[in-house]
Amino acid sequence: MAATGTLAKYAIRDRVAIVTLNAPPVNGLSQPLRAGIQEALHQAKADAAVDAVVITGAGKMFCGGADIKEFAAGEITEPDLNIVCALIETLGKPVVAAIHGYALGGGMELALGCHHRIAAHDAQMGFPEVTLGVLPGGGGTQRTPRLVGVPVASDLILSGRMIGASEALECGLIDAVAQDDLLKEAITFALDAKDRADGLRTARALPVKDAANAKDTISATLAKVLRRTPNAHAPKAIARCIEFAASDASFEDRLIFERKEFLELMNGTQSKALRHLFFAEKAAVKIPNLDKELPLRPIECVGIIGAGTMGGGIAMNFLNADMPVTVLEIAQDALDRGIENIRRTFAGNVEKGRMTLAQMDRRMGLLKGSTDYADMADRDLVIEAVFENMKIKQDVCAKLGEVCKPGAIIATNTSTLDVDIIAEATGRPDDVLGMHFFSPAHIMRLLEVVRGAKTAPDVLATAMQLARRINKVAVVSGVCYGFIGNRMLESYLREMDYLLMEGATPAQLDAALEGFGMAMGPCRMMDMAGVDVNAFVLDGREAEGALPDTPSYRALVRKLGALGRNGQKAGKGYYRYDGRTPVDDPEVNQIAADLAAEFGIRRRNDITDAEICDRLLYPLINEGFKIMEEGIAYREADIDVVWTAGYGWPALTGGPMHLAQTIGLTKLRDRLIGLGQQTQDRFDFFTPAPLLQRLADAEGRADERLPEAV
Ligand code: COA
Repeated sequence: MAATGTLAKYAIRDRVAIVTLNAPPVNGLSQPLRAGIQEALHQAKADAAVDAVVITGAGKMFCGGADIKEFAAGEITEPDLNIVCALIETLGKPVVAAIHGYALGGGMELALGCHHRIAAHDAQMGFPEVTLGVLPGGGGTQRTPRLVGVPVASDLILSGRMIGASEALECGLIDAVAQDDLLKEAITFALDAKDRADGLRTARALPVKDAANAKDTISATLAKVLRRTPNAHAPKAIARCIEFAASDASFEDRLIFERKEFLELMNGTQSKALRHLFFAEKAAVKIPNLDKELPLRPIECVGIIGAGTMGGGIAMNFLNADMPVTVLEIAQDALDRGIENIRRTFAGNVEKGRMTLAQMDRRMGLLKGSTDYADMADRDLVIEAVFENMKIKQDVCAKLGEVCKPGAIIATNTSTLDVDIIAEATGRPDDVLGMHFFSPAHIMRLLEVVRGAKTAPDVLATAMQLARRINKVAVVSGVCYGFIGNRMLESYLREMDYLLMEGATPAQLDAALEGFGMAMGPCRMMDMAGVDVNAFVLDGREAEGALPDTPSYRALVRKLGALGRNGQKAGKGYYRYDGRTPVDDPEVNQIAADLAAEFGIRRRNDITDAEICDRLLYPLINEGFKIMEEGIAYREADIDVVWTAGYGWPALTGGPMHLAQTIGLTKLRDRLIGLGQQTQDRFDFFTPAPLLQRLADAEGRADERLPEAV
């Protein structure tokens, strides 16, 4: 028997009603599903042949939480989760949640509304709402502290981390872990509960656990979270809700308090931005106009050319995914050093408790070193990660074109060079694409997959699927200088150098951009990445005649490079380093002032943080519109993913292109024109992209029409 017209299936086994959430792929709690659960519960309540209820999920999981798409409506349509949970709590028959796969967010809250919870041994549970800029709005901030106590509840809800079944059992979030057959054991649990004194125990009726010093505990956990994202609203609202859980208010008032906080967050710009990124990351892996049935190339073993920092980092990604890797270096000592570095990184992970010794041994067992290209012959994928020089990369790729087996994919990790030229060097350009990892490659989430002019569709599709296997967020870019990320970075760094020549200090620049939310200001970032690396790329571009015909262009970074101020590794760059601490260095100020005199740049002492942010960020966004117009990115959202996953751009703004919409395209265009007028001799650097111009015009026309529409 099924509850009619709903996404919740209803069946009876051994006098227990089985309510199955059936809304694949994640059983998201949309309004129709909530209504379905409600209907099924009413049916169970009324059915004299039913003694207890088990709620379970169809397919891969119990429930992935609220249907995030519904949040765009600005309100939650009834029956909301509070109504469903209240119905469970007053059903008069024990209700048990049987959790497999995931119980996240609203899914976990539904389970907390049940009288008891039993989970499969490999189930994952948690409250990821904070990562979407909201809070558990279905009683999660109120029931969790009652079951697990204030310290654990604060940690779980503020961090958004997932926990496994054994940790959930230990802290009291669930009551049992299934030994073998989850559903069968849940049914037994439910029938037993019928006869137990605590069979109808509800979380809402329990006192808050470990409530002593609740305020201090919550504040300390909140402070930890805010260190990473000081501007985030959701963590502060979560803290207020958990604090309220320990107040004297009635449970109904507590739920009203939580709901009000939830709705404010849901309708705020931060949550909209984070939800945009959630879907943007899912969409980025989808390649338009590609046959979904296209067979992929099997990738079971990998070769990496180059055992330097980048090659080693890339290798670790595949080792972590349990794939055999052969790393190649020409010289034995460089190879030994590279392998030792990988071993040391893994050992560091073991020391920090992130990996067991057995896991490290397994990974090292999958790693081989070689100095002979013939060892690449059996690899399904070979990634070159050699020095960023076209001639060297062409030579390496020519060799790979010869030795790699037919059907093997050859990838280049270039960050700026022309992938099409590198591809031609292999003699089999359809097998070639760019796989641009970001340093440190085993940690950074982003992977730019560069589609060459001749890259075969199955090669592109295989790389996108592989990215998922190694836990990367992949975005496709077309071929152009710097692809999506580094091309946009160029205009950002250009204004950084000009502002320093005009009189701003590195610390002032970094503080302004970090205040905006960048994980690291541009001067610290350059010092970390290596001033010499950037100066080298600029020299190469100058030799190609690819730099703007403006002698002052990026003059500061090149001067610092020429002076050996190569950044943190040299103890000095944009800053001087006291250990790892950057200190403003008057010498840099003097170098910048001398360059300003040489190029006739006026020094000023009225540079504000707002000007710094506008001068660095607006041209960067403008470049994004050029990238769209040229078809380098498939979607604006892909650009947002690149910047938030790879460059420390604040996710709370949704990425540069999402921010453009928040700012308003007319305002963005006009500010660019204003900045161009301010820096008359470099007006072109600020000329709005034609696409931005057209979209701003359209936005302007929409505004004109608005009064009529109203
Ligand atoms: N609401 C709406 N859609 C959701 C969703 C949700 N809560 N969770 C996942 N989806 C969608 C995804 O966008 C994706 O759609 P697509 O196939 O059109 O791209 C699809 O469901 C599958 O998701 P995916 O992430 O690829 O599946 P997975 O099996 O790898 O991971 C989860 C499953 C549940 C771990 C993961 O989807 C997730 O973390 N979801 C968000 C959970 C969450 O934050 N819940 C709290 C909401 S306030």
